Amino acid sequence: VPYRAAIVGAGAPVARTNANLEGFSIGKAHALAYREHPDVELAAVADIRIENARALAEENGGAQVYASLSEMLENEPALDLLSVCTWPTLHCEMVLAAIDAGVRMIICEKPMAVSLAEIDRMKEAADSAGARLFVNHQRRYAQPFRGAKRLLADGHLGDILRVEGYIGGGWDLMSWGSHWVDMARYLADDEAAWVFAAAQMSGKRRYGHSIEDRMLLQIGFSRGCLGLVHTGDHVGGAGILVTCSEGSLRLSADGAAQVAAPRSLPEHLVDDYLREVPSRHGDLGPFLDAVADVIAAYEDGRPSLIDADSGHADTEIMLAAYQSAARRAVLRLPLSDRSTDLDEARESQVRAEG
Ligand SMILES: NC(=O)c1ccc[n+]([C@@H]2O[C@H](COP(=O)([O-])OP(=O)(O)OC[C@H]3O[C@@H](n4cnc5c(N)ncnc54)[C@H](O)[C@@H]3O)[C@@H](O)[C@H]2O)c1
Repeated sequence: VPYRAAIVGAGAPVARTNANLEGFSIGKAHALAYREHPDVELAAVADIRIENARALAEENGGAQVYASLSEMLENEPALDLLSVCTWPTLHCEMVLAAIDAGVRMIICEKPMAVSLAEIDRMKEAADSAGARLFVNHQRRYAQPFRGAKRLLADGHLGDILRVEGYIGGGWDLMSWGSHWVDMARYLADDEAAWVFAAAQMSGKRRYGHSIEDRMLLQIGFSRGCLGLVHTGDHVGGAGILVTCSEGSLRLSADGAAQVAAPRSLPEHLVDDYLREVPSRHGDLGPFLDAVADVIAAYEDGRPSLIDADSGHADTEIMLAAYQSAARRAVLRLPLSDRSTDLDEARESQVRAEG
């Protein structure tokens, strides 16, 4: 088997998602994707809770287990791939340590990091070491999003005017919302030029950093399409709406898709684009596709759908959103203030509100 993979952050053996919506054990999805890839062997798992590492290793054919990333990197000098599945505040230091130890493919969970200074360091380190860094927005590989991307790109609905992601259920921008910011960029097929946001920040935290109670975010894409992302308890469901000059698309997180096309797009064509391709791994299918794309991109020296630049662009939008809300100003990208993290953005908002 050509590639030796490892995971840091196994998660509890049975996901113990708490009331604060933390604890998805996403390391298990990475382990499954490695197990199912013909060219990968899961060689090692590290977790500060060694019992979590042990359970994941046992489930996946008996990899070595370690109680820390540093111990794993010291004892496993020939790792090719590492999945960083810990909380976002740990992503930067773990990615840097892996690059330093010579790992050449690193899949970091979303969101990439909690400040732009961290992201700049992660990308610089990867570039200078010749390593490939990826950020796991695996929804890009899932239907109906993948087909919607092609339907839009092939021009069947005309120009894309607005892409509007929404996520309720108490979810925040940096956690679940990260997927919708990413999906807005993916479908709009453009980069953000500016960001404007309003947020209510009452001191809530998730995954080790500040989060909002609710947010309204506008993303100005460079060719004129507007991105919108709503978070908060009052947002019903989770999905994305795409409004175009000649029709619209409604895609929900559970995979349902509807197209309204006044120019009457033939039904069979819509079906061809949006038909669900059932995976025997259900919701985890896209994690397998992500790992396959990462390895093929590495081997062929081509971009993947989830390169570090993409994860960076998503996180830059999200961090800009918190800064915009704190300063009550439209912020142009790239952001000039690269050191402020989420907690500082929150504090400056609290000061602004006196
Ligand atoms: N791509 C997706 O769809 C998706 C879904 C859920 C979560 N996530 C992301 O995955 C990441 C992890 O979230 P989760 O919900 O799986 O977390 P989790 O709490 O279920 O698992 C994290 C694991 O990391 C371990 N850990 C903590 N500190 C450590 C350290 N210093 N060294 C080694 N191990 C350590 C914990 O013991 C735990 O087992 C987050 O960034 C989250 O946003 C992504």
